[in-house]
Amino acid sequence: MSALAEALTLRDVRPSDLDAVAELEQISFPVPWKREFFASEVGQPHRFNRVVRGADGTLAGYVFCAFAGGEIHVNKIAVTPLYRRRGVAHLLMREVLAFSVRILAEEIYLEVRPSNYPARNFYTALGFRDVGRRSQYYADGEDALVMSLFLQERRPSS
Ligand SMILES: CC(C)(COP(=O)(O)OP(=O)(O)OC[C@H]1O[C@@H](n2cnc3c(N)ncnc32)[C@H](O)[C@@H]1OP(=O)(O)O)[C@@H](O)C(=O)NCCC(=O)NCCS
Repeated sequence: MSALAEALTLRDVRPSDLDAVAELEQISFPVPWKREFFASEVGQPHRFNRVVRGADGTLAGYVFCAFAGGEIHVNKIAVTPLYRRRGVAHLLMREVLAFSVRILAEEIYLEVRPSNYPARNFYTALGFRDVGRRSQYYADGEDALVMSLFLQERRPSS
């Protein structure tokens, strides 16, 4: 484990995280979710919501997922600019992958802007594939690409 990963703490999102989550959201997305939207996700059933905090307690990143019927939907993932390109999103997705094993999920999917090269590159490096496109999905009119990771393909068959 890297020195950075050792200094980070990962845990479920709590209401006390929401101010920092909403702040990071504001600087990370062209059309950010409002704080109330994150608040309505915390503590709900069929959710997997994690934050990662640095040794000094500052928020390093978050992931918000919903799951049903063998599928996990990544609603949001973001990393604080100072922590980017240091493996934090990778750590968060590793958590999602470990969770997918626990619930025997078959697929993890998400929407991403075609213009979001860092995120698309990140997902492709993890093995996600483009599986579709949603026309004018975002509030500003940009389409979304749908990317999926098919978990059966990664598990040894018994
Ligand atoms: C996308 C995002 C979550 C990546 O977080 P991160 O912690 O910097 O990612 P990691 O350090 O774990 O990167 C893992 C791999 O993803 C790819 N990657 C990440 N950022 C990249 C960038 N800016 N350009 C190209 N590839 C990138 C690389 O393959 C990288 O591996 P490498 O550093 O060994 O080359 C982060 O840039 C972010 O918060 N962006 C704003 C919010 C956002 O767009 N979220 C996704 C919405 S769908």
